[in-house]
Amino acid sequence: MPFPKADHIWMDGELVDWDAATVHVLTPTLHYGYGVFEGIRAYPTDRGPAVFHLRPHVARLLRSARLYPPLDTVPYTVDDLVEVILDLIRVNGHEGGCYIRPTIILGYGEIGLNPLPSTPQTIIATWEWGTYLGEEALVNGVRVMISSYRRIGKNTIPPAGKANGQYLNSSLAKVEALRAGYDEAIMLSEDGFVAEGTGENLFIVTDGVIKTPPLHDGPLGGITRASAMTIARDLGYEVVETSLVRSDLYLADEMFLTGTAAELTPVREIDGRTIGPRGPVTERIQATFIDTVRGRVDRYQDWLTYVD
Ligand SMILES: Cc1ncc(COP(=O)(O)O)c(C=O)c1O
Repeated sequence: MPFPKADHIWMDGELVDWDAATVHVLTPTLHYGYGVFEGIRAYPTDRGPAVFHLRPHVARLLRSARLYPPLDTVPYTVDDLVEVILDLIRVNGHEGGCYIRPTIILGYGEIGLNPLPSTPQTIIATWEWGTYLGEEALVNGVRVMISSYRRIGKNTIPPAGKANGQYLNSSLAKVEALRAGYDEAIMLSEDGFVAEGTGENLFIVTDGVIKTPPLHDGPLGGITRASAMTIARDLGYEVVETSLVRSDLYLADEMFLTGTAAELTPVREIDGRTIGPRGPVTERIQATFIDTVRGRVDRYQDWLTYVD
């Protein structure tokens, strides 16, 4: 789906017009996927746009870069990039909120599988982006299938990072699910435990207990995942990180996905088995999540960075 252009994209200190923000066709990241990125959202609030968990996202970007030298040689700190992002949102005038996409790639100048001689290039774009899995999905839930593609192994590509090329794995699973008539794929780890969605973490509710796979089963340490766990515990629910197998999903009372793009999306069906409409636990956590990102929950005000 095309997304709306903004006025400017930030490229290593320069504000470049959207249409002029290009890289050379021999930029090595285009060929080998060696780069890292983040996905961040700003939401409209009564006090203007506010970015949800801005610092943790920027910190994760720089952690991902540390996994992929020489991307870790970027000359920016978390504080620098936080300021750049806030300025860019102001310059682009995203009063109603936006999606923010920073990426650190290998700049043009070297080609070949050795990334070390390349110079990193940092690019940050913003645009106004609606719901990822559809407005209706937030209420009625999505239909998912367990993918035949396994989530990248710990010693294949580090699952803790967000590297551009690793999303081949997610996209293969996504295409398989879409072509089979589902909305989203759930990926198992190499040893058969539930890992996560293609760009979302996964939760189930069984007998009132909320369960999510532990990081050693391969999911990304999602920032929305951590927020949902805190909200759920503060609402009085028991939340456990525990390994799950596919039958745990089939037998769940409720299931939902979390992520910056997908926000908090209920799952209504898995592999042709009905889980049901959005359940009461999912609905409560989702409602608090929505109020939080809109700046309506005092307790979580420090999760937001107001743009103005
Ligand atoms: C593979 C994967 N899992 C989970 C998530 C959700 O993470 P977050 O809540 O930090 O956006 C993402 C998105 O960044 C992702 O790419």
